[in-house]
Amino acid sequence: MNYLAKRLDAVKPSASAAVSQNAKALKAEGHDVIDLGLGEPDFDTPAHIVEAAYQAAKLGETRYPPTDGTAALKLAIIDKFKRDNTLNFSPSEVIVGNGAKQVIFDAFMATLENTSEVLLCAPYFGQYKDMVLILGGRPIVIDCPPDNGFRLTPELLEAAITPHTRWLLLNLPSNPSGTSYDAQQLSELGDVVRRHPHVLVMSDEIYEHITFDSKKHVSFLSANPDLSGQVLIVSGVSKAYAMTGWRIGYGAGPTPLIKGMTKVQSQISSGACSVAQAAASAALNGPQNSVALFKSAFEARRNLVVERIKGIDGLTLAPPDGAFYAYINCEHFIGATTAEGIALEDDTAFTAYILSEAKVAAVPGSAYDLSPFFRISTACSEDVLNIALDRIAAALSKLTVKGNTP
Ligand SMILES: Cc1ncc(COP(=O)(O)O)c(C=O)c1O
Repeated sequence: MNYLAKRLDAVKPSASAAVSQNAKALKAEGHDVIDLGLGEPDFDTPAHIVEAAYQAAKLGETRYPPTDGTAALKLAIIDKFKRDNTLNFSPSEVIVGNGAKQVIFDAFMATLENTSEVLLCAPYFGQYKDMVLILGGRPIVIDCPPDNGFRLTPELLEAAITPHTRWLLLNLPSNPSGTSYDAQQLSELGDVVRRHPHVLVMSDEIYEHITFDSKKHVSFLSANPDLSGQVLIVSGVSKAYAMTGWRIGYGAGPTPLIKGMTKVQSQISSGACSVAQAAASAALNGPQNSVALFKSAFEARRNLVVERIKGIDGLTLAPPDGAFYAYINCEHFIGATTAEGIALEDDTAFTAYILSEAKVAAVPGSAYDLSPFFRISTACSEDVLNIALDRIAAALSKLTVKGNTP
């Protein structure tokens, strides 16, 4: 008997989950698999943050917290927006959730009807689409190919908006492409949004502190301050402070929206873990030197990957502006055949080949709705990256590409 709700049928098993399952299976068989599929920093949470959680628990901060976040953490978030983005929010405009993921889910659940359309800029973080589908909304995918640096343009945005558009999703810088936008580009997108007051913008800025080449992150709202009634900024401590397991994310946006999201959250989780909220307050209020250290490590790894990919015939990679991923074009190898005579028909087959031949797990572009690419994470040491790229290069050299000999 199938007792699962119909709404689950809309969500297909993700390509990234399949990769990670296959990688685990190979590891269990004793293979030395390098997992470059992961989306979490490989650093430890800084000690002063862990200490703050310990102290909070010892001092009895162990009761149900307010649904929308503790007063202390909300203040820390408000100060963060002032300091980093020159944005002013009041406590009623801020919500804390169990990770940025819950904040995104709250926002969709609070606003989507089954006719509502959500604009996703491919390549995009796959979970956006799954959440929209599970809630009965309609994901509308806008292809944003590499010739414009994977960026959404005002023309593409204008063409995609309909009377049913509820949200435009932006991710600055992006998982998986690393693309960020400057103030001018964001203000041009803002001009389109301004013409369509029924459209809300969710700007997921969780990688804001991981930007390279001295580029400064610009928030969508900083570039378009007059759109505050239409914008929800989503962020969290997972990526900047190596706190993925603490599950603290936050959102800042118009009070009526935050109120609706709080209503949703009150039915799901009664707020986020009190001790983790104390840790997140310490992260936002405390010394920021670990953020700078993580960022420079990610930048060195980005540089290494860009250089190494230049040396592998058939792969191309435009240097990512931020985040800790490389979204690598593998078009040259689509249609190539393995030594066993199997043709690699798409990027899913390509990553399956890399996994079986090179024992390197990577995520196919199909997981982000823009092919043929594959994503590797740089959340591992330079030594591990070098070994993984050596293995990938060796595996690719064994392929027969149409018109080339191996
Ligand atoms: C773009 C993006 N948004 C949100 C999240 C979720 O973050 P959190 O750990 O705060 O739920 C991730 C995690 O991979 C992400 O890549």
